[in-house]
Amino acid sequence: MQIGRVLITQEEIDSRVRELAGQISADYAERNPVLISLLKGGFIFLADLVRRMTIPHEVDFIAVRSYRDGFARSERIEIVNDLKRSVNDRDIIIIDGIIDTGHTLEFLGQMLEERRVRSLRACALLDKPSCREVAVTVDYVGFKVPDVFVVGYGLDFKERYRNLSYIAELLPGAAVGEGPHATAREGQPASPAENNP
Ligand code: IMP
Ligand code: MG
Repeated sequence: MQIGRVLITQEEIDSRVRELAGQISADYAERNPVLISLLKGGFIFLADLVRRMTIPHEVDFIAVRSYRDGFARSERIEIVNDLKRSVNDRDIIIIDGIIDTGHTLEFLGQMLEERRVRSLRACALLDKPSCREVAVTVDYVGFKVPDVFVVGYGLDFKERYRNLSYIAELLPGAAVGEGPHATAREGQPASPAENNP
């Protein structure tokens, strides 16, 4: 696998993250929201976002793993690393690197509603709306991207490329069964043990 064209530069990410942080700071003044980062893909985005925010807030982390259920295209998702604090009656913003099928966000949304949060919104640096399998609302979106596999700024292919400071397309070309959509999603391991967050 190799890195293809750069889709979003470091400068473009930086200025969009500032805008999102400004918007969230304006929307959540006086509310002390909890920003929940989805590991691992959301951790760099969270780190940059909170440093641009101007209001009091808290952060927490959650890691999930999912298994794609054969041809049914349904997902079984489980929590592998839960939140450390109660979110009861709190204003929650889920922070994710990319929303693809929407299954992960739908699962998290249901789980958080069951924990009786006061309000719930989602913020993703990237959105692939053409890949949606379930309808989810993403309240704050950094950039829309086409249906290509992207890496960088927290997003990986087999744990590589998270450290790139830009978003790039990953060129296909690996051996059969090794393509990104076969193995790379945090939610789509060939075997669960391969893909522990
Ligand atoms: P979904 O919305 O439930 O399909 O899950 C989205 C997750 O799939 C993200 O949090 C990523 O871990 C992974 N993912 C989806 N598309 C990409 C991509 O283009 N590059 C890297 N990871 C991706
Ligand atoms: Mg991944």
